[in-house]
Amino acid sequence: MPEKRNARKSILITGGAGFIGSHVVRRFVNNYPEYHIYNLDALTYAGNLENLMDIEEKENYTFLQGDITNEKYINTIFDEYHFDSIIHLAAESHVDRSIKDPLAFAKTNILGTMILLNAFKSQWQDNWEGKLFYHVSTDEVYGTLGKTGLFTESTSYDPNSPYSSSKASSDHFVRAYGETYNLPYVITNCSNNYGANQFPEKLIPLFIHNIINNKQLPVYGDGDYTRDWLYVIDHAIAIDLVFHKGINHETYNIGGFNEWKNIDLVKLLCQQMDEKLGREKGSSEQLITFVKDRPGHDLRYAIDATKINKELGWSPTVTFEEGLANTIDWYLNNEEWLNNVTSGAYQKYYTLQYK
Ligand code: NAD
Ligand code: TYD
Repeated sequence: MPEKRNARKSILITGGAGFIGSHVVRRFVNNYPEYHIYNLDALTYAGNLENLMDIEEKENYTFLQGDITNEKYINTIFDEYHFDSIIHLAAESHVDRSIKDPLAFAKTNILGTMILLNAFKSQWQDNWEGKLFYHVSTDEVYGTLGKTGLFTESTSYDPNSPYSSSKASSDHFVRAYGETYNLPYVITNCSNNYGANQFPEKLIPLFIHNIINNKQLPVYGDGDYTRDWLYVIDHAIAIDLVFHKGINHETYNIGGFNEWKNIDLVKLLCQQMDEKLGREKGSSEQLITFVKDRPGHDLRYAIDATKINKELGWSPTVTFEEGLANTIDWYLNNEEWLNNVTSGAYQKYYTLQYK
């Protein structure tokens, strides 16, 4: 039976203005009026308060703009709000950016996590009853799979990109604080997410944006790379479940049981987009362009989510075809959101990345 924890009144969610964080914040604010949710976000290029307009006036919600690497600021907010639990999502999250600027990833993902761990530890000393540090991580820490096999919770860490190395390092620090200081934690390692509000630098929203604008679809290498895709709402549901029922000091893998080769996924996306935009069948596929491969590109990720399924009863609720259709609809209906995030600095990034 899962260990029972006390109700946690004051919950800090970091990175709540980002893609996954905004879905988690919304779920917790709406489903748990007895909790107060503090959303701490630096509002980097990836953070956007427009993602949370529907809940910003709720009584049990407070937004705090701040940087997790600013130790003084973090200590001040812990003194003020006495967070019982943390759900930590704030991170630099894009592999391609990590290749260009690895230090920024070490700073936010490693140092930032340590500053939060220290603040949490100083706040509660050894009085850990009812407290939890929930660290949200990625399957990329396991490195790459060959053509077969799945990542389980006991797969050795073997990260290949600066992004996955920084996440792996932060996972290790969370574990170390658990072993050394008895800090209560859970970690989840999730596969690739997709859905509404994802910044259009990751594969699916980038390609939706490009198809809308009749721009080339830059497929890295031969497109023969495989990812395991999970709808973001199903990730938020899993986080809710692990937060409430996960066992202290355990890790859970979360995945969609949904592997796709990039090129097959892009072709499916093109078909769905042609239908939704009323374009001639096959027209979006003509935008596919094979470009220079990503350095250190991991061949395949695939999660074995048996543990969370068997122990906590979680499984995805949405099929990929449904999830993808919902996602496309969201981007087509939120043109203003897309235009806002793709103006200014985005253009500079795009030119540099795809020159
Ligand atoms: P995202 O880039 O969309 O959002 C990250 C958020 O963190 C942004 O709102 C940004 O403003 C904020 N942030 C960045 N640096 C900060 C700092 N120094 N201080 C405070 N806030 C800061 O990322 P995402 O895709 O929503 O990912 C969220 C978490 O989930 C990350 O930890 C990521 O490693 C993990 N994850 C993501 C995926 C995925 O497919 N996107 C899969 C598995 C795990
Ligand atoms: P991405 O969405 O960046 O996620 P991750 O690298 O964390 O898995 O990329 C998903 C896959 O799509 C990955 O194999 C790289 C590939 N890709 C492209 O082929 N072209 C692109 O422009 C991007 C952004 C990704």
